[in-house]
Amino acid sequence: MCGIIGILKKENSELSDNLVQSLIDLEYRGYDSAGIAIVHNSSIKIEKCLGAPSQYMDLDRFKKNIGEEKILTTVGIGHNRWATHGKPSISNAHPHLDCGGDIAVVHNGTILNYESLKENLKKQGHNFKSDTDTEVVPHLIEENMKKGLSLEDAIVESASLLEGSFGLAIIHKDYPKTLFVLKNGSPISIGISNEMFVVASSTNAILRYTDRYLVLEDGEMAKLDAENMSHNIFKYKQPARSRLYKAEQVIEGILLEDLSKGDFDTFMQKEIFEQPATTRSTILGRTNTEEGLAVLGGLIDYKEKLRNIDNLYIVGCGTAYNAGMLGKELIENLTPINVSAQIASEFRYRKQNFSPDNSVFLSISQSGETADTLESLKEMKRKGFTTLGIVNVVGSAIAHESDAGIYTRAGTEIGVASTKAFTAQAITLYLFSLSLARVHGMSESSGISFIKELESIPDIMKKVLENHQEIERIAEVFRDIEKIQFLGRGIHMPIAYEGALKFKELTYMEAGSYPLGELKHGPMAVIDDMSLSVVILPKDDLFSIGSISIEQIKSKSGRLLVITDEEGAKSPVMRLADEIIVIPKLNNPVMYPLIEVLPLQLFAYYFAKQLGNNIDKPRNLAKSVTVQ
Ligand code: AGP
Repeated sequence: MCGIIGILKKENSELSDNLVQSLIDLEYRGYDSAGIAIVHNSSIKIEKCLGAPSQYMDLDRFKKNIGEEKILTTVGIGHNRWATHGKPSISNAHPHLDCGGDIAVVHNGTILNYESLKENLKKQGHNFKSDTDTEVVPHLIEENMKKGLSLEDAIVESASLLEGSFGLAIIHKDYPKTLFVLKNGSPISIGISNEMFVVASSTNAILRYTDRYLVLEDGEMAKLDAENMSHNIFKYKQPARSRLYKAEQVIEGILLEDLSKGDFDTFMQKEIFEQPATTRSTILGRTNTEEGLAVLGGLIDYKEKLRNIDNLYIVGCGTAYNAGMLGKELIENLTPINVSAQIASEFRYRKQNFSPDNSVFLSISQSGETADTLESLKEMKRKGFTTLGIVNVVGSAIAHESDAGIYTRAGTEIGVASTKAFTAQAITLYLFSLSLARVHGMSESSGISFIKELESIPDIMKKVLENHQEIERIAEVFRDIEKIQFLGRGIHMPIAYEGALKFKELTYMEAGSYPLGELKHGPMAVIDDMSLSVVILPKDDLFSIGSISIEQIKSKSGRLLVITDEEGAKSPVMRLADEIIVIPKLNNPVMYPLIEVLPLQLFAYYFAKQLGNNIDKPRNLAKSVTVQ
């Protein structure tokens, strides 16, 4: 949610090109507007655009306005916006300036007390040009400098007045060799090479330049100096500002090719088709087939705790929550453990009845940054719970805060609508369920066959994806529908929810999702010949009962798309379906969710494509939601 970038180089260069490229790398974090600012000939020069920088940032115009073919500079900052305070507009796009135009600031996060700060600053004569919370920051710094403070002191003084969350990058027209960075609640990493510093909300935007980086913690500020390529990091609230020495880290788990679409039309399409490979990578080295065990190194210190739990909370948002619901179905199916799967934004504010003594808290997150999930985790830590995380982004806040966890190894996911991260979360939950089941009564032979089936999933996924043209055709068949609902029972229910979420995100159409048996208790009212019911119904022990719902939908003239396996497809009830997507038959029905989600991802993808929607960047959304 908003992406910030700051680049400081030893030597003059065409930095604006780098800034824009980095904004493109960070575009998934916000794309309703963008901007860059550089220090050039002792003044701040700004260029902004409405919409995604990859499409709308006009560097030729920038160069023309400045009157130079090559704009050489040593420092600059940039920002991709996902609007929270004030609508998307050029004046609300970052960077924001002080009255004198000397100081430029980019910000990721929310300044909670900005209204009172703004009121005071206005009384002191400051002139505001945007509706954003961010704009108070350059004015505060300006005000403090007017009082005689140095730039560094003015930033420290201003930061101490801010409440809320922020990642900030700050430049001043008179300091072309200095870049200031602050962190409180929003992620910031500092990439380091011999020639440059690159400050970014995510290491994704650093990797292009270097794989060495430092992580700022909350309450820390860094002064980066290009004169001698030095950095001074300190706690900005501590008067002594004692220098903190941090170990450099190496960026892991991201490849530069993850940041490009390759031969695919969109990142989402690429990520859908990557799932056989990412699934393989999630499983790799995490099974002991001879003994039917899951080998989860990250949880090794919590083996005893997990052996003795009676209850488990699983918490996440959106897709991660849907994976959590699937985890609940699985774990309750395979073990005697009670599982409460909850949406993080609700969980935080609810009374929770499990005790830390015999329960564990598990959060799920692709980004590892989602504010609601992170705050739920912190709250459960305060309450004394053991906290585990299933996280994709290595070293992210949730990974960092959790007592222990499992990385999902899906690689970088750029498409805002999650696909490979979901299947990686699901596979991780299957491994986690197996580890719990094996200490709660599952036999060795069942463990062995569970692993064998799990390891066969990547090849089966490949087969399912080979059917993509058929799914594209089916999306065309239903092009004229006015309403849609996704339905599934038991272990298929979370997949119905995930199918509906994908469809909504990409097509902008409302999509219902219900347990199949709930249909007759209300959702049936919407069924008519312009409605499509997507029913997930492979041949398992709920097939017969599910077939009744198919009859009911058809009796109300509803249109019907069924996802079933080769066995289910032979059933006479399937004659009622307008279209059927057939997936391979599995020996262990508990594994169906891992493959039945793929046609739903493709269906949403092709449906949105024919509408001409922006697949990778659906309107109003952002990849990581770091506001509450
Ligand atoms: C998924 O398609 C969504 N974009 C969204 O629901 C997402 O899963 C949710 O915001 C949670 O994100 P996280 O996994 O990064 O915590």
